Amino acid sequence: MSSFYVTTPIYYVNARPHLGHAYTTIVADAMKRFYRLIGADARMLTGTDEHGDKIVKAATKENKSPKEFVDGISAEFAALWKDLKIDYDQFIRTTDENHKKSVQALLQRIYDKGDIYYGEYGGHYCFGCERFYTEKELEDGLCPQHKTKPEYISEKNYFFKMSKYQEWLKQYILDNSDFIRPERYRNEVLAMLEGNVLEDLCISRPKSRLEWGIELPFDKDYVCYVWFDALANYISALGWGNSGDLSLYEKYWPAEHLVAKDILKPHGIFWPTMLKAADLPVYRHLNVHGYWLVKDTKMSKSLGNVVDPRFASEHFGLDAFRYFLLRDMHFGSDASYSEEALITRINSDLSNDLGNLFSRVLSMNAKYFEGQIPALGDLTADDEQIFASVDNAAQNYIQLFKEVRFSYALDGLWEPIRLMNKYVDSQAPWTLYKEGKTERLACVIRVLMENMYKIAVLLYPVMPESSEKMQAQLGKEFILHTKLIDDLLTCRVHLRTGAAVSGASNLFPRFEKPAEEKPADIKTNKQGKQKKEPAPKTDDNTEKGLIEFADFQKLDLRVGTILAAEQHPDADKLLRFDVDLGEDTPRQIISGIAEHFKPSELVGRKVVVVANLPPRKLRGLVSHGMILTAEKEDHLSLLDSSAPNGAKIS
Ligand code: MSP
Repeated sequence: MSSFYVTTPIYYVNARPHLGHAYTTIVADAMKRFYRLIGADARMLTGTDEHGDKIVKAATKENKSPKEFVDGISAEFAALWKDLKIDYDQFIRTTDENHKKSVQALLQRIYDKGDIYYGEYGGHYCFGCERFYTEKELEDGLCPQHKTKPEYISEKNYFFKMSKYQEWLKQYILDNSDFIRPERYRNEVLAMLEGNVLEDLCISRPKSRLEWGIELPFDKDYVCYVWFDALANYISALGWGNSGDLSLYEKYWPAEHLVAKDILKPHGIFWPTMLKAADLPVYRHLNVHGYWLVKDTKMSKSLGNVVDPRFASEHFGLDAFRYFLLRDMHFGSDASYSEEALITRINSDLSNDLGNLFSRVLSMNAKYFEGQIPALGDLTADDEQIFASVDNAAQNYIQLFKEVRFSYALDGLWEPIRLMNKYVDSQAPWTLYKEGKTERLACVIRVLMENMYKIAVLLYPVMPESSEKMQAQLGKEFILHTKLIDDLLTCRVHLRTGAAVSGASNLFPRFEKPAEEKPADIKTNKQGKQKKEPAPKTDDNTEKGLIEFADFQKLDLRVGTILAAEQHPDADKLLRFDVDLGEDTPRQIISGIAEHFKPSELVGRKVVVVANLPPRKLRGLVSHGMILTAEKEDHLSLLDSSAPNGAKIS
């Protein structure tokens, strides 16, 4: 059985996980599931990158030791992957003892080969990127990523002779056209290698400046540069250089790496040259995707536009969210995230096309054949067209998935889905039924069911739970086995005549587009369907302005602390807050109190929050609650409390 090994970047633990991290991890999960579907022994690795200046700074800010701090955020990543049902095999942390051993083994091997030397270096160091920049790389003297002025640092350090491998790498990329893909990123890396530009890589930091790292095996006064340490995770996770047991490494290496464009250089240049220097085979492919943007802007904490993947998947359904991410981003290009785009995709592709096909066919089958699978008869040209269209789409889908062109793969699969809906209309089973043409009716329903089954199986990598549900609705249990995909592509019949199938199907509920700044008369239920509040009863009490105790009890009032406060980017009167309500992640709350308070004076203040209001969009930002204030003679105060965060007021 062939093997397949997909990796995500190991994420920095200085920030909480967001949509960008979730995207890469979901794609890796979909790739692993895809390779399992086509019969490979597939493995997935993810994890966290925990050393370096950045982490120390973030920990100090929260008054925590680096270890205490990294444990907390690393666990947040793991918890998110659990909620998103990511099927990874291993979660690596660069603070793991085994990883440290591996990094030291790699350093020692390259050192022994003579490719690491000691020298003096002066350069522009960006603390955000944790790397030195050359004069040429700076833009107007600023770091191109962070737009901040790097610090000029001169010190003695260890260097990896990366320049020695420049020509080899260039030739390797030229000889292997999809080593780095899509092509634009291959070209970018080739451009970085144009001329004699590759410098040696500084791979150490003196302990006098930074202690939080892996000690160099040949000099205890230095720790390893964080990128050298981090890149090694892809092999240390397989036991290379740390366990003596190389079975995982031998089985799964070389890997299929998945990263976004921000870390192209370390993966496209540092990593292959490091591997080459250590006489190890390079990775199979570097798959590089673009950025998820929000309203064409980069997500950033300070803009308050960071998308929470947990909220989106809970609200819209995990599979629908996964489908959207894979369908709406053309792998390699940037894509724009918005709830409107997500809802449009769900309503058109999932509810209208796929969901509708399942619900129509299954309910007709319940009505005409008492929910039992009818027999396939003689096929007409129309029936053949359905089979041919699904088979053709299936072949393309598999090929495109291998080429990491997920949006095209899915787009292609939707052609037969739409064709099948048209086939239902043109064959008009209801007329066949009325006219008593039972054999033809049976054949039409069976043609549909067989092909719906194929679509359901093919969708497993993208929508695993819905795929199993669709197969179950067609009376099939989903069991992965090595011949599954060959059978699917070569056999026409997969279902059993007479087997009982589901009589109805409601796979993907429709959603209403979010209302922009509508009054709070809309409640959102679990499926996100919006319903109007019932008109209030006008009884005696309401006339007197009194409420029932039960009405009061509906309010979920909670104590919280404001962690961050800033002006709303698009509205003078609004402020944007991150409020800690004792939950897993702080809540974003938008409040119209900008005329009364300066954001800076609110950070750290305790507040009382109405925590069970439906999310509401205010000038483009979603507010998840309301901060209570008290007003007298135009003077506004916050309601204060000494109770701990999350305490319920009753
Ligand atoms: N620790 C390094 C990686 C070391 S790998 C040996 C790092 N960490 S990171 O936390 O900054 O993660 C960067 C990665 O997160 C990107 O390459 C991408 O996979 C994902 N994303 C972060 N923001 C993103 C978007 N806005 N859109 C898409 N993916 C993005 O770099």
